[in-house]
Amino acid sequence: MKLFPQEENYFGLDIGSSSIKLAQLRALHGRPSLVTYGDIEVPSDMVVSDSDIDQQRVADLIKQLADDAKVTSKNVVASLNAAQSYTAIITVPKLSHDELAQSIKFQADKVIPMAIDQVKLDWAVVGENPASDELDILLVAAPNNVANKYLNIVQKAGLELMALEINSIAQSRSLVSPADAQSCILIADLGVLATDIAIINAQIPRLVRSAAVGYKAMLRVATQNLGIDPGQADQFLKKFGMDQTKLEGQVYKTLKPIVDHLVEELNKSITFFQEKNENKHIEKIILTGGTVALPGLPLYIANSTGLTVEIGNPWQNISYPAELQSNLAGLSLNYATAIGLAMRGAK
Ligand SMILES: Nc1ncnc2c1ncn2[C@@H]1O[C@H](COP(=O)(O)OP(=O)(O)OP(=O)(O)O)[C@@H](O)[C@H]1O
Ligand SMILES: [Mg+2]
Repeated sequence: MKLFPQEENYFGLDIGSSSIKLAQLRALHGRPSLVTYGDIEVPSDMVVSDSDIDQQRVADLIKQLADDAKVTSKNVVASLNAAQSYTAIITVPKLSHDELAQSIKFQADKVIPMAIDQVKLDWAVVGENPASDELDILLVAAPNNVANKYLNIVQKAGLELMALEINSIAQSRSLVSPADAQSCILIADLGVLATDIAIINAQIPRLVRSAAVGYKAMLRVATQNLGIDPGQADQFLKKFGMDQTKLEGQVYKTLKPIVDHLVEELNKSITFFQEKNENKHIEKIILTGGTVALPGLPLYIANSTGLTVEIGNPWQNISYPAELQSNLAGLSLNYATAIGLAMRGAK
């Protein structure tokens, strides 16, 4: 099994912790075109669980989703988040393919914080430096137990797992517009348990990391601090979010330390990248993930990082029937990964 997909006919599957999304595309007049898409809710904690019963339940939901969406392939490319994987750029001398593979494995062992015989390793050449005769390699690793879990789930759903891909790599396809093809951009996926942060340069992730900040932590803090039940806290968060003018700023004040922590993580990633790439300038932040819908959150992130912030639009690089326009617009925050996974094959 590869960590980079190659097969043409497949669909993208994003097994998120609050919902599973799928997307299938095909090439039409040289442009990726939407064949089908769909999502299904999963009860909380089911996806992260390692129990056989929960994995069977997730598989059943995937099967139902694939049936309902009428996908035309049994082949799946699924995604892994940053917390479940390891991504790095390494530089190696230009060698023959076999020697290159050896050299990469040797270097990978040095940079990957896991035993090399316990990970699935994949790589792609992403750049060339003619002056030094070196290659830039995008290295991706996933622990065997994580890869095997996904393989099991997908098989139990009656489907075939062709590849696993990292969320941020998929998102760099769906969320970067042609106008930004050469730009340096930070993509942040604000999910339930964590936020995946990626710095993309010329459509290639140069830095990928996970920050342990997501909707779940926000909900927990709001429930505790406001002394209300989780259902009510959920409503308050979604209604008032980071809007200081609502409810005397109570929800804002509760959320602020968590959001500030997230901003700190974004700034740390930017600083780290900037130290290694002095000549590159990060032009904007693209936000995705359901948590971005919190009122006032994008503006707060823009103000506190000093960068332009955009809401990611995963539909911009594909064609779709005009009558779906308003439906799809409402799903923009949730589909960046599934569409990005599916875009690989349509190219
Ligand atoms: N209006 C809203 N304001 C804030 N959060 C929202 C809003 N609507 C949905 N959410 C939250 O967004 C999350 C769903 O987003 P998303 O689909 O990106 O998550 P996921 O992909 O399932 O999770 P993960 O990527 O962490 O595995 C849920 O936690 C949901 O509560
Ligand atoms: Mg997600």
